[in-house]
Amino acid sequence: MTQNPYVIDQMISAKAIAARVEALAREITAHFRGTDKLVVVGLLRGSFVFIADLVRELDLPVEVDFLEASSYGDATHSSREVRILKDLRGEIAGRDVLVVEDIVDTGFTLSHVLHLLRARGPKRLEVCALLDKPSRREVDIRATWTGFEIPDEFVVGYGIDFAQRNRNLPYIGKVRFLA
Ligand code: PRP
Repeated sequence: MTQNPYVIDQMISAKAIAARVEALAREITAHFRGTDKLVVVGLLRGSFVFIADLVRELDLPVEVDFLEASSYGDATHSSREVRILKDLRGEIAGRDVLVVEDIVDTGFTLSHVLHLLRARGPKRLEVCALLDKPSRREVDIRATWTGFEIPDEFVVGYGIDFAQRNRNLPYIGKVRFLA
């Protein structure tokens, strides 16, 4: 695929992310204190860096699982279909569950995933999203914990891609097209 040339301007530094992840983990640990096990569910692929850092800061017994949903398929308007490409390996009935998402944009992905998981009867179901773009929201939904609210910019890094590239940047950057 050919791509117009672009540069990436740093928006949130690796240091700022690390500090925020630590603070989020403290709040999540306090919220779930006493749990026999917290099932931390990463939504693939974008959350893989965030979940790796977050779970290492949680002072709780944790199980890690993954779910993959595709949100940016063909449809671009509000009755957008979200497909589950990979389901959880484990059961979540009666469990404490934390869904970890890299970014909430229109909210379709999160809304669909929560609907699906709620139907399985978890004891508690909460969400931690690193980034939130409230100005893009089409579904009335919010994460329980949000790392950073950001404007409607095209962001990459720390797990987030642009055409499958730039997920490995240690910071969050803003894509700026040159042409
Ligand atoms: C991105 C992102 C969220 C979703 C947010 O995933 O990781 O899951 O879109 O968008 P929404 O709020 O408008 O639904 P994407 O489908 O691009 O897959 P990826 O995580 O594999 O990059």
